[in-house]
Amino acid sequence: MVIKVNFKNPEKNIIKNAAEIIKKGGLVVFPTETVYGLGANALNAKAVKKIFKAKGRPADNPLIVHIADKKSILILAKNISEEAFILAEKFWPGPLTLILEKKTIVPPEVTAGNKTVAIRMPDNKTALALIKAAGVPVAAPSANLAGKPSPTNAGHVAKDLEDRVDLILDGGQTKIGLESTVLDLTQKPFAILRPGGISQEQIEKVIGKVNFWKAGSKSVVKSPGMKYRHYAPRAKLILIDYNNKERAEEIIKKLIKENKEKKAKVGVMATDETRSSYPEADLILTLGSRKNLKIIARNLFKTLRIFDENKIDIILAEGFPEKGIGQAIMNRLSKAADKIIKN
Ligand code: TXA
Ligand code: MG
Repeated sequence: MVIKVNFKNPEKNIIKNAAEIIKKGGLVVFPTETVYGLGANALNAKAVKKIFKAKGRPADNPLIVHIADKKSILILAKNISEEAFILAEKFWPGPLTLILEKKTIVPPEVTAGNKTVAIRMPDNKTALALIKAAGVPVAAPSANLAGKPSPTNAGHVAKDLEDRVDLILDGGQTKIGLESTVLDLTQKPFAILRPGGISQEQIEKVIGKVNFWKAGSKSVVKSPGMKYRHYAPRAKLILIDYNNKERAEEIIKKLIKENKEKKAKVGVMATDETRSSYPEADLILTLGSRKNLKIIARNLFKTLRIFDENKIDIILAEGFPEKGIGQAIMNRLSKAADKIIKN
């Protein structure tokens, strides 16, 4: 069942009913500022197992635990480094997930047997009200079927999961559109395991240099989720590096021609600046202007899903500079891609 909530002032009775479901060990999908989450009581192993089943998620990929106030970090984690408190103060509520040493209260099902736990406080009124009313931390992965693009509106969730969950709270389109940044504070130097809504630059301003995942690098560290194919539309996706604009557009035009000759339905994921450059494509969708990477990030997952709805066979996707939120955009595009063409 999908129920609309007022994102500025979530209705108390709706939140209360949703919280009851969580307390009873059920599954509630809720909006966050990043993407929709598929939530269950993080302290109830049986409820947490339902999340994995509903998503078809491999049991070795741990979940993020969502809290409604900064102090709850103390219930879930121990030996917490000073930087964790500094970062929480600066970025919570917000799209930053901290990996810390777990306390025994956190069931192994949540952390996939790891000694660490991922924690974040989302910046969304519905999410915070739900966690507060449930009175327990809420474990939640993105509310998509495993491997699919993460949901940025309730329609996406319903398409993937409607008959597998007890309730979907519809809080409209999510603001950021990409998941949180996952930062491991249990290894030194600290390491970004997944780039996201808070950029490396923002983190380094507060705690100094951190290690970072790089597009195309194989040395992706301890985040178990990173080894799976992710964010993938049904269509085959080819990512074309955009360091050299002329060369990139030339490659895309050539690929449109080649694939159309093979009778494939070809889509181009372009930008406002380039949308008129590919008249031969069957479907051209723009993510927004290259001048505003935040908007590009917000539109990315939604746009991938539109290509699928239109039964496109091949998506040719332009790349972006790996700066600021561009790191997260390129991370998601690389993971969704069947092939990456450098230029
Ligand atoms: O923005 C977000 O983070 C969204 C919203 C719903 O909060 N959630 C989300 O969850 O993206 P999920 O499950 O799709 O991605 C969680 C990532 C995975 O890559 C997982 O492997 C990693 O966090 N992770 C979770 N616990 C971890 C741990 N203990 N150690 C290392 N990585 C962990
Ligand atoms: Mg996910």
